[in-house]
Amino acid sequence: MREGALIVVEGIDGAGKTLNARWIVRYLRRRGREVIYTKEPTDGAIGRLLRDWTPRRVADPRVDALLFSADRLHHLRRVIEPEIAKGKVIVSDRYMYSTIAYQGAMLKDRGWVEELNRFARIPDLSIYLDVDPELGLRRKMGVRRYSEEDVEILRRVRKVYLELVNEEELESIDANRDLDQVREDISKLIDRLIS
Ligand code: TYD
Repeated sequence: MREGALIVVEGIDGAGKTLNARWIVRYLRRRGREVIYTKEPTDGAIGRLLRDWTPRRVADPRVDALLFSADRLHHLRRVIEPEIAKGKVIVSDRYMYSTIAYQGAMLKDRGWVEELNRFARIPDLSIYLDVDPELGLRRKMGVRRYSEEDVEILRRVRKVYLELVNEEELESIDANRDLDQVREDISKLIDRLIS
């Protein structure tokens, strides 16, 4: 049996994570691998709580950090670890780097958020789609308006992601370009992993 693997796709809002994560699933299936697409926050009990909660912005970033991290450990136990053990490749749309970047930026305390994720499995490949925050928001919101505050938050989140790239935790791809160019770079990383 071929070995299972965990691939994660990260980035700020509007980077194209979901579109590209789904494309990675098709790319690997064409190469004969058994692949599962999954995402965080999950559709499990803790993930549902987060989904109902975050749009209303009532949560405290400390509470968010705890819940996103708990959702992840539950995700690992419930889906990721058992499927990897069966030889499947898991493609996760967001993973622990989202909590480190988003809640780490809000709290200005990466260390504590990393500690909460100490028991999370290190992925075999972590792809970071790097996009300019204003371009990301324009893509996500379309004609709707976004505030300078939204841009400022994403700038801070991106800064933490770039620190993680510098520390070689994440493989960065310039996602300001056309989808074809982005996918060409992604395929090189995937080929290197599965060859
Ligand atoms: P996501 O599902 O990627 O957004 P959408 O599919 O609607 O574009 O993520 C939802 C929001 O949750 C997003 O703004 C990022 C945030 N988030 C965190 O702040 N911390 C985390 O650990 C995760 C997984 C997501």
